[in-house]
Amino acid sequence: MQVRRIELFQFRNYQALELAFERMLNIFVGENAQGKTNLLEAVYLLALGRSYRTTSDGDLINWDAAFARVRGETEREAGGTRIEVLLRREGPKEIKVGGENLRRHSDLLGNLNAVVFSPDDLQLVKGSPALRRRFLDIEIAQVSPAYRHHFTRYQRVLRQRNNLLRAISQGFARREALPDWDEQLIADGSRIIAKRAETVRRLSRWSREMQARISGGREELELVYRPFFAAPSEMPQAEWEDPQAVAERFRKELEALRRDELARGTTLAGPQRDDIAFIVAGVDLRYFGSQGQQRTAVLATKLSELEFIRDEAGEYPILLLDDVMSELDDTRRERFLGTVSGRINTFITTTNVRSFPDEILKEASLYTIRAGTVTPVGA
Ligand SMILES: Nc1ncnc2c1ncn2[C@@H]1O[C@H](COP(=O)(O)OP(=O)(O)OP(=O)(O)O)[C@@H](O)[C@H]1O
Ligand SMILES: [Mg+2]
Repeated sequence: MQVRRIELFQFRNYQALELAFERMLNIFVGENAQGKTNLLEAVYLLALGRSYRTTSDGDLINWDAAFARVRGETEREAGGTRIEVLLRREGPKEIKVGGENLRRHSDLLGNLNAVVFSPDDLQLVKGSPALRRRFLDIEIAQVSPAYRHHFTRYQRVLRQRNNLLRAISQGFARREALPDWDEQLIADGSRIIAKRAETVRRLSRWSREMQARISGGREELELVYRPFFAAPSEMPQAEWEDPQAVAERFRKELEALRRDELARGTTLAGPQRDDIAFIVAGVDLRYFGSQGQQRTAVLATKLSELEFIRDEAGEYPILLLDDVMSELDDTRRERFLGTVSGRINTFITTTNVRSFPDEILKEASLYTIRAGTVTPVGA
């Protein structure tokens, strides 16, 4: 997949911007606070219909404006598409693909797949489990409409079941209402878990190879899925990829936790409690990894994400690298860039262009960004 053109209007600190991309690799150089991240955010918006750094669309609209618009032309093997996202301060967001208004915004996904790597992602290994679940969910949702469906419905059922548990614990509702909700929770929850289990197994295959490549063959990374019902020592089971087998364990857990759930008025079982572990040589990097190992693991995981999406969608996604190259040492940076260059439509921001090797710069289009204007270098 490729982004051919992008047009920003009143988006963050951009008044009006039009850019056409000719090469696979695009590097944006600028000082702090000039609009580098904002530009990647706009590209990401075309892919996922939202930002990767805020949940509030209003933040994306220029402070002095009532709306923002991002348009793009993308290219897939199947052909090109136009995507447009319109954000209003008052009123709903509009998303168009090929000129057609999308009734369900989630239908945008799959038109343009994207993997982003920003400094926040360095928390992936040692941050909270919620970060790791989010990483997995965004990745799967991009390529699986079925996952999106189960995921959305699960969130709703979970909310309603929590309300019910609270009402029961306060004496406003009867326990007899619970089993119906249990079954709905299990139905969608077990499909989410089965798909996550499969995905992590496949990611792990690639991440092993990627970690070895980036660490110069010294390390192998294993990603291990930890569904909520598994003991910490339990290794991944083929059964976890079978929704029916998962449903049975889910049901058992709910039974075992019933009293606690009623006492606390909240759901204690389910994929909202899953986690992923990053293991190198039998050691959990979250607790025992050096900073360098954790960083390499995040890189390897990002590279695996690219392979996973290609496997599912038949093409590589685009890759957005927000200021992460300076966080890596020379060797790791070169190995990483060497892996993606030429094959993947990549957008990189940096404050320091000298951190890129000449071979990479030779094949890149270079731009400078200053106060919301983008200028091609040496065009
Ligand atoms: N909605 C908005 N309207 C106008 N300006 C905004 C809006 N949101 C953010 N900005 C401004 O845009 C500027 C550029 O932000 P951006 O995050 O893109 O910087 P950057 O070039 O990535 O900098 P850094 O190198 O520090 O990461 C910031 O000064 C920010 O205050
Ligand atoms: Mg930035």
